[in-house]
Amino acid sequence: MSNLRSSEWFSGDDEVALSHRVVMASIGYEVDVNNKKPIIGIADSSSDLNPCNLPLRNFIPEIQRGIIEAGGIPVVFPVMSLGEDLMKPSAMLYRNMLSMEVEEYLRSYPIDGVVLLANCDKSVPGSLMGAISTDLPTIMFTAGARPVAEFRGKPIGTGTDLWRMWSEYRAEKISEETWKEFESCLNCGLGSCNTMGTASSVAMMVEALGLTLPGTSVIPENDPARKEAAFNSGREIVKMVNNQVIPSKVLTPAAFRNAMRVLHACGGSTNAIIHLLAISGRINGGLTLDAINELGEGLAVIADVEPSGAKLIQDFNQAGGLPALIANCGENFELDEQTLIGKSWREIVKGLEPTNKSIRKLDNPIYPSGAFAVVKGNLAPNGAVIKVSAASKELLSHTGPAVVFNGYSDMRSRIDDPSLKITKDTVLVLRDCGPVGVPGMPEWGMIPVPKKLIEAGTTDMVRISDARMSGTSFGTCVLHVSPESAIGGPLALVQDGDQIRLDINAGSLELLVDEVELGERRAKWRTPISEHLRGWPALYQLHVMQADLGCDLDFLRPKSKPERRFVPPVVGRS
Ligand code: FES
Repeated sequence: MSNLRSSEWFSGDDEVALSHRVVMASIGYEVDVNNKKPIIGIADSSSDLNPCNLPLRNFIPEIQRGIIEAGGIPVVFPVMSLGEDLMKPSAMLYRNMLSMEVEEYLRSYPIDGVVLLANCDKSVPGSLMGAISTDLPTIMFTAGARPVAEFRGKPIGTGTDLWRMWSEYRAEKISEETWKEFESCLNCGLGSCNTMGTASSVAMMVEALGLTLPGTSVIPENDPARKEAAFNSGREIVKMVNNQVIPSKVLTPAAFRNAMRVLHACGGSTNAIIHLLAISGRINGGLTLDAINELGEGLAVIADVEPSGAKLIQDFNQAGGLPALIANCGENFELDEQTLIGKSWREIVKGLEPTNKSIRKLDNPIYPSGAFAVVKGNLAPNGAVIKVSAASKELLSHTGPAVVFNGYSDMRSRIDDPSLKITKDTVLVLRDCGPVGVPGMPEWGMIPVPKKLIEAGTTDMVRISDARMSGTSFGTCVLHVSPESAIGGPLALVQDGDQIRLDINAGSLELLVDEVELGERRAKWRTPISEHLRGWPALYQLHVMQADLGCDLDFLRPKSKPERRFVPPVVGRS
């Protein structure tokens, strides 16, 4: 009998095994009782609703060819497509649902290994979390970034340049015609965002973890090298099955440390931190939010890519992509970690030099330390995250009075109100936008600078929320405040005019209100959220963990005992 997992379905002379073999014959593959050909699942998340993932389907024939040439049997199955643009309130609400879908597909079908096809940011961690929970050999294949659009002869970075233009349009610095002309330039094709947004960040993070072919994670969608990567991914997964290269062997604590270092050095997305914590939690990888500051030590942001830098992901890929970035990080990276092709990073990056200036040396960085800082204090007892490389240096130590918005609608309706008492020193607070609160923790954390301040020349302010922000966003935005306000986190107690102190060097975020006063406010607090009564949002709201634990569902962690569980308050509900 073969030692393949799928042989459980096909070996034997009874009617059940026979019917399983007949199913395979009916889809075009002869499988006998002694089948030695690994069955390789291809989890296809392409969809017309998701232009970032849509091109994935074009690569399936190459992946199938690679699998067949290496002696495997490819079987394609569809999985949910998580597109950040159209899906509301946020694709993040469904990341864990995708992970459950992938896990259950792999568990219930005769599959020996899987190629995950994902691109738009949540689909990458979602499918990976599901696959690693099965511990079957897994390889990630992304479709890469969309072509670069141009506006008046200048390349446009997806997202980042849109946010800039939106600020200018709101402040009437550009005309309606210019705004429309800008829109007409944005449709440049299929693929993921072409900045160091969440998609590029998580694709590189997975490569650094060791579950994508080295050197392939940020090849653009329309680059011929991506087809070659598809073929090679197909070949590689068969080898991985034959050699039993399984996630629990690949995903060592050092692999997680390396992935976090890559995010620091590339000026990656804050969202990637949540996903990395969730992935680590699935496999006891040992990564904690507290380790993030430490893992940035000795590093600097050396990827000159928007939003921290000036170039696009195509330039970064041309410079050599992740291996070239790691080469320039040198011994700050744990180079002896093995990759899935059986070579260490040290062997892969030996002698590599970036071929253009979008990857710099550590002594000539675009930001002198790692990209992120974790802050804690009485406003964020379990921590909050800020992307310091995309923030304003002069605001990294700042004390100012709060202006508080209760949810996204309140913020959108009042942010440009001329009567809002606000100055450039105000600290904007947006609450009730966390994992439980919406639910799904949308990307609302880059609160727009009020129109009247943009007109006066202000470009950035300190903003604090329990939301996330797009990886393409920028500004002095403190995000992922944990615990969130909707379950009674201290953000719920802030009132207009309260002084808030942010001090990145000290790693602190403090609400300067005395404990007695805060106790009185806490006693009067009523949760503003309505409990979802049915379907996925109801399950999610009951079981989602906070951002510092990766927003996974408690029952999907390997431990049987949930670590932290949201219990809807019986009393105290308004
Ligand atoms: Fe899909 Fe950015 S919106 S990758």
